[in-house]
Parts: sequence; structure tokens; C-alpha cells
Amino acid sequence: MEETAAIASGLVADDPSSGDREAPVIVAVDHVNKIYSDGTHALKDVSLAVRDKEIVAVIGPSGCGKSTLLRAIAGLTSPTDGVCRVADGVQPAFVFQQPTLLPWRTAERNAELLLRLSGVPRAESRRRAHEAMTLVNLAGFEKAYPRALSGGMRMRLSLARSLAMKPDLFLLDEPFSALDEITRKTLNDELARIWFHQPFTAILVTHNLYEAIFLASRVVVMSARPGRIQTEIAVTLPYPRNSDVRLTSEYVSFVEQLSIELERAAA
Ligand SMILES: Nc1ncnc2c1ncn2[C@@H]1O[C@H](COP(=O)(O)OP(=O)(O)OP(=O)(O)O)[C@@H](O)[C@H]1O
Ligand SMILES: [Mg+2]
Repeated sequence: MEETAAIASGLVADDPSSGDREAPVIVAVDHVNKIYSDGTHALKDVSLAVRDKEIVAVIGPSGCGKSTLLRAIAGLTSPTDGVCRVADGVQPAFVFQQPTLLPWRTAERNAELLLRLSGVPRAESRRRAHEAMTLVNLAGFEKAYPRALSGGMRMRLSLARSLAMKPDLFLLDEPFSALDEITRKTLNDELARIWFHQPFTAILVTHNLYEAIFLASRVVVMSARPGRIQTEIAVTLPYPRNSDVRLTSEYVSFVEQLSIELERAAA
């Protein structure tokens, strides 16, 4: 989508600090409030603009409305006030905390599932599923059933199934939180590598400070409920990011800065 088209459709960032000023806005959240029917005030006046090919991490205390925000962007719930807009033609792919695989389908048949459901012919689906499985280092496991895969492999397969769709926008709700620290780091490394080779726009909800700083170009810190955007940190670490980045003093100081902001937000 061109910048002019973005402006025409009202998808304009009003936050001058946000990302690459030239890139079109893919997600625009504008003064959103969400009050559930039981009176729970989940989101309070949240505004956020995410530009093309940005990875924005969202971090904040448990129950502050992060999942609500992602669901509102995906159109799975509607804001009480304000609007969430996704640029025309952009199909978001939602990746949940738990891998949602079909146990009776082999890995490759799981990986091609969304493509098949969207009407892509069998041969093309299979080819793209294999490509995605290779990206997440699962080549060779095409015929395995989910039960024969480790937790980390299942999560990678879940990711491959979304990657095969080549989505313009990933909505990632704590996709790695069920994994051990080493597997999480490996998957973070893989996601950073995949992003570099096949860039996409993503909003990543996480509780993990290290993951947020490693992957994101910006981290949005939310306050305790009702969730407001408390502050935003621009992560100016260079790309491509690989595991060496974690050894740099810049990385460590970004993590420290985020930790302080998060404590403030929870107070
Ligand atoms: N369908 C619902 N109906 C009523 N209240 C809800 C609903 N979904 C979420 N909530 C409440 O809204 C608040 C925000 O929930 P949400 O799941 O968005 O938080 P979160 O930041 O994702 O939390 P966590 O970090 O624990 O995943 C919570 O108090 C939650 O109990
Ligand atoms: Mg959540």
C-alpha cells in the first residue's frame, strides 16, 4: 500500500517517534477503549501506529489488555470506543501461545492447512509448506505427526503454517511463552533471521524483556489495567540481529531500561 493510499484511508501515524517515517502505516489503533460487558475496563485510550515491516513488541503486567488489543486489531473483538484499522488488503495471521495443530495430520499437512483452506491448489500449497518448514528448520520432519515433535518443534510448525501464507502482518500473542529458555532463544534467533530474509510486519505480545528487545524495533510498555500505553522505547540495535547481539552492552542497557519502565508501569 502506498503512503498516499494510507493517508487517503485515514491510516496515518500521529506519533512522530514511531519507526520509519516513510513506510506506510499497516495498523492504526486510534483512541481505543475496551470495556467488557461485565464492566472490566481492559483498554483505556490506546493509540498506536505500526508501520510496514516493523516489529513492535507489547509488554505489560498480566491482565493489562495485551491480548484484548491484539484481538481488537484482528477484528475478533470490537472496541467500545475508538477504531482499529488494518491497511487495505492486509490479511493478519494470528499466532497463539499454544501451537494449534491437528494431531491426525502430518507436519507437512498441518503446514499447508491454511493454504488449502484458502483455496491454494495442492501442489502449490505443498511447495510453500515445505519452504516454510525449511525456514523454521523443520525440513526432514514432513511425515512426522505432531505427537512425535517436541514442544519447540510444534511451535515452529505452528509458525511455519502461518509463514506459508506469507502474511503481511503477524499478530503474535506470547508465541514462545510455553517454551524453555534455550528453545525460546533459538526460536527468537530463527524469527530474526526469517524476518531479515522475508520481512513482515508484526505485533509481538510478550512478558519476556530479552525477547522484546532482541526482536523489536520498538517496545510499547502498557500500564496495569485499564491498559494504557505508558511509554515507548525505540530499540536502535542494528540489523541483522543474531545471538551475538545479546552480548553487547547496548543490548543489556536496553533490557535494563525496559525493566525500569515495566516496574514503573506496574506500580
Ligand atoms: N471476554 C472477556 N470478558 C470479560 N473480561 C475479559 C474478557 N477477556 C479478557 N477480559 C479481562 O480483561 C482484562 C485484560 O485481559 P487480557 O487477556 O487482554 O490481558 P493480557 O494483558 O493479555 O493478560 P496476560 O498477560 O495475562 O495474557 C483482564 O482483566 C481480563 O480478565
Ligand atoms: Mg494475554
